Amino acid sequence: TTLVREIYKDKEFYSHKEIKVSGWIRTSRGSKNFGFIELNDGTFFKGIQVVIGNELENFKELIKLSISSAIVVTGKLVLTPDAKQPFEIQATEVEIEGESTNEYPLQKKRHTFEYLRTIAHLRPRSNTFSAVFRVRSLASYAIHKFFQERNFVYTHTPIVTTSDAEGAGEMFRVTTIDLKNTALDEDGNVDYGLDFFGKETGLTVSGQLAAETYAQAFRNVYTFGPTFRAENSNTPRHAAEFWMVEPEIAFADLQDDMKLAEDMMKYIIKYVMDNAKEEIEFFNKFIDKGLLDRLTNVANSDFEKITYTEAIEILKKAKEKFEFPIEWGSDLQTEHERYITEKVFNKPVFVTDYPKDIKAFYMRLNDDNKTVAAMDLLVPGVGEIIGGSQREERLDKLEERIEEFELNAEDYWWYLDLRKYGTTKHAGFGLGFERIIMYLTGMSNIRDVISFPRTTKSAEF
Ligand code: 4AD
Ligand code: MG
Repeated sequence: TTLVREIYKDKEFYSHKEIKVSGWIRTSRGSKNFGFIELNDGTFFKGIQVVIGNELENFKELIKLSISSAIVVTGKLVLTPDAKQPFEIQATEVEIEGESTNEYPLQKKRHTFEYLRTIAHLRPRSNTFSAVFRVRSLASYAIHKFFQERNFVYTHTPIVTTSDAEGAGEMFRVTTIDLKNTALDEDGNVDYGLDFFGKETGLTVSGQLAAETYAQAFRNVYTFGPTFRAENSNTPRHAAEFWMVEPEIAFADLQDDMKLAEDMMKYIIKYVMDNAKEEIEFFNKFIDKGLLDRLTNVANSDFEKITYTEAIEILKKAKEKFEFPIEWGSDLQTEHERYITEKVFNKPVFVTDYPKDIKAFYMRLNDDNKTVAAMDLLVPGVGEIIGGSQREERLDKLEERIEEFELNAEDYWWYLDLRKYGTTKHAGFGLGFERIIMYLTGMSNIRDVISFPRTTKSAEF
């Protein structure tokens, strides 16, 4: 069989050739003598037109097939320069592989994204989601390609862990349950255990601390995997289960970290623009009119850099615009982040050197003793897309910070060991993978860029 994606790439080559394509019916219309089927074969979000005539022995059956029926078509490819579609197949044989019923929910009409979320098992068959999830796949590949080309070692970090890497208390607990010999409480309900074979564990919120151990062996490493946060923030930018890309680099400081982040962002954007041209054009036309211009600009211009203290000064001057108050020491809210990146600079902005009290314990204390060597990358349309920092490599300082945060130093014995056995200046960051997919597609809800979103309302599929 020939793939529709290949035909779109080189239609001249296939012109007047006999080919075989297989796929699912998107639309179908016909008369007594002729029929037109738009077939989607899954390799491209655009379909291919199939023309059937009543000389086909199963013409009457074919003309009645419901949307989403699976068929295999043999015929000649003919270019149609004057028509809406660039080419069509004049079928000489059509086999019916699997019929669909007319209860198929994705009939030819516009559906809201809200509705499509309720049928997450079928929505990848629609144009928008086909394009989103192909971009997601290409962006994953671009990330691996970027780091592998630079000799980074891909490191797999644990999913079940005792350490709360961010120290923010947002871990989902993991419990054991013995289904055969389960204790029941007095009401007859299952009495869930509170431990993982005797230890209190949870699902990882970040692979960073484990990645740091590998950076002290391999120098440059990255993780790319699922992370979980039990934050009940019902926003279009937060998910309970999301993917994160976390590089960690040794013998490197915050400036090196930002350089890496900027290079990576530009690489991913260029890769996706080159390899998903039609998909990006589709998003630019139907989802976000400024997308193409924005991505092109970002790929070719320098990111802005300001300190947190400078950001606060800027925000104070516009304080009547915000719901949340601004003062030095408080965390930036999404409205503040978006104002800075969208209204003030209109490009990606690194904000650096945050107050130590609003950032994680592992960030390197600056000489002012008030701020840490942290950076967040803010981008128009999304807000925070990356969070990173230079890590505290000095044992005594790190121990002080662990105490300040009232964390249990014993839990971090292996992390502290790294500071004893040839400690190095090092840094890293986390890219929210869904957030870059939102950025690349213009989709405005995180639930529409994750295949099967886990939300406060749903964990189906
Ligand atoms: O800023 P965060 O919390 O940083 C870390 O976890 C560090 N340990 C990363 C590191 O330095 N290795 O998260 C990093 C990024 C955020 O900037 C955001 O893009 C994304 O992860 N993120 C989320 N994405 C979707 N849903 C959530 N609930 C998210 N929480 C964070
Ligand atoms: Mg953050």
